[in-house]
Amino acid sequence: MKALITGGAGFIGSALARHLVGEGAEVLVVDKLTYAGHLSSLEPVAKALNFTFAQIDICDRAKLGEAFLAFQPDAVFHLAAESHVDRSIERAHEFIETNLVGTFNVLEVARAYWEKLPADRKHAFRVLHVSTDEVYGSLGADGLFREDTPYDPRSPYSASKAGADHLASAWFHTYGLPVLISNCSNNYGPYQLPEKLIPVIILNGLEGRPLPVYGDGANVRDWLYVDDHVEALCLIAKSGEPGRCYNVGGRNERTNLQVVHRVCELLDMHARKSAAHRELIEFVADRPGHDRRYAIDASRLERELGWRARETFETGMERTVRWYLNNEAWWGPLRMAGVGVKRQGLLP
Ligand SMILES: NC(=O)c1ccc[n+]([C@@H]2O[C@H](COP(=O)([O-])OP(=O)(O)OC[C@H]3O[C@@H](n4cnc5c(N)ncnc54)[C@H](O)[C@@H]3O)[C@@H](O)[C@H]2O)c1
Repeated sequence: MKALITGGAGFIGSALARHLVGEGAEVLVVDKLTYAGHLSSLEPVAKALNFTFAQIDICDRAKLGEAFLAFQPDAVFHLAAESHVDRSIERAHEFIETNLVGTFNVLEVARAYWEKLPADRKHAFRVLHVSTDEVYGSLGADGLFREDTPYDPRSPYSASKAGADHLASAWFHTYGLPVLISNCSNNYGPYQLPEKLIPVIILNGLEGRPLPVYGDGANVRDWLYVDDHVEALCLIAKSGEPGRCYNVGGRNERTNLQVVHRVCELLDMHARKSAAHRELIEFVADRPGHDRRYAIDASRLERELGWRARETFETGMERTVRWYLNNEAWWGPLRMAGVGVKRQGLLP
């Protein structure tokens, strides 16, 4: 299989690239290398003969088209995006550009390429548009997001992803492009940029800085270990039905405060200095429009494609904290550059 991955130098895209290269697929990563994309995340596969990287902005349709023609993919995993909700509050235009216009380009380039493929390759070709559960909005105390839950995005990030999902769906219905959509809950794991909750808490804890908790810390997310997401993506691209959406989630609902407490326990266990890490917790101003609760019903993916998350929250968190403890060579330069140190997304 020849897989083209957009956004493959980011957190999830690099995990997918490392996995597919390990499985023997031929992989081309296309990435603009924004502040969120790092070749160091691809270092484990950089020298593999079945791996290639191209620095391309998905908003540059001509270059993207050339990459498709030269590489001749069988499948496209579209992950390139601006992905941080806090940043979307201050820089919405970047989210509209990449998440909407960029996705439009990916769909158009894929369509032009797919239409000229010979019949057997055309039949097998797939585009997987990777999206988020945040498009569904916010849940109350009960209920789960299902694939037929109406879209109700609340942040510039989730609105741009919702728009991109609608484009992907339209390209299937109007042009017949074999597109699938996945909507996944919050991921965590190795190589996640230290601007997102779990790595921020791990690294601030290691550095003895305050551990910021937004609002009352009671916002609930459904956490999934990144490699479980990667397995779901491979399964959906291989065996999913074009035109269909698949929710992906770990059945691991936790409040943000519970997550922070768990990180503190693990840091106390593996990197205790003097005081308990919990003493560093600081409640800070809430995010504007902060969605209260997300929770995923992944039963379609489990029932139809046989997917199951391998990691529990406990095993996944243990792996993640240990990885950060052992990989300062990856995150050290990012911290030196100030990633995740300054609070973003507060209104004046
Ligand atoms: N992280 C999560 O919890 C989560 C959950 C569900 C879905 N998703 C979705 O998965 C995808 C990947 O998320 P992530 O957490 O790995 O994001 P990330 O921010 O870590 O990585 C995004 C990557 O896209 C690249 N990129 C950004 N703009 C680009 C452009 N114009 N052209 C080419 N490349 C560009 C960046 O350089 C970076 O390598 C996103 O589409 C996101 O919406 C993420």
